[in-house]
Amino acid sequence: MRIKILRDHYCARCPIVKRSPRSTGVKLLLGVADVKSKRVLDFGCGNWRNSKYLESLGAYVVKMDAIPDTKPDVVAYPTHLPFRDKAFDVVLYTHVLMFLNSKKEWLTVLDEPRRISRGYLVVETYRVSHKEALKYTVEELNQMLAKYNITKRHLRPDLQVFVAKLMG
Ligand SMILES: C[S@@+](CC[C@H](N)C(=O)[O-])C[C@H]1O[C@@H](n2cnc3c(N)ncnc32)[C@H](O)[C@@H]1O
Repeated sequence: MRIKILRDHYCARCPIVKRSPRSTGVKLLLGVADVKSKRVLDFGCGNWRNSKYLESLGAYVVKMDAIPDTKPDVVAYPTHLPFRDKAFDVVLYTHVLMFLNSKKEWLTVLDEPRRISRGYLVVETYRVSHKEALKYTVEELNQMLAKYNITKRHLRPDLQVFVAKLMG
């Protein structure tokens, strides 16, 4: 159901790439890390705006999505990221948590980057005004990410961004 909402209401006619060629989380990441020659996993790659932007800066990006029509390199779901330990330097979850199947999955989804990345995790969420989208509070996000060393945090009522430094 949530996949359909996502496609019908958000992704299908998404104008965001015209307004913003990369998301706020990527902008904050670039304030603390040089991505040249770094390996990045972009889960929920959507229309590839973040992937393309980071590639233009010299990063090696693996595009991953749960939906094949986004033409990702890997079709998979983030409760099980199909990669070896420490295979990446950066994991991006930008504008995806609200569309997952259940909030119960969030802890697992937020744990996986600790296993596969030796650098950074970028989490970006925004308030989706559709009754079927997953609801959350900023406090819940803060609690779920409390185990991480957050180097950048940008919190607004409608948009929340965290850049976490993972242990190498
Ligand atoms: C709003 S788009 C965000 C795109 C991109 N990360 C960005 O910031 O521009 C959400 C992405 O998450 C993926 N996604 C999230 N949850 C999903 C689910 N339950 N099933 C399928 N795809 C999902 C969608 O396919 C889509 O690419």
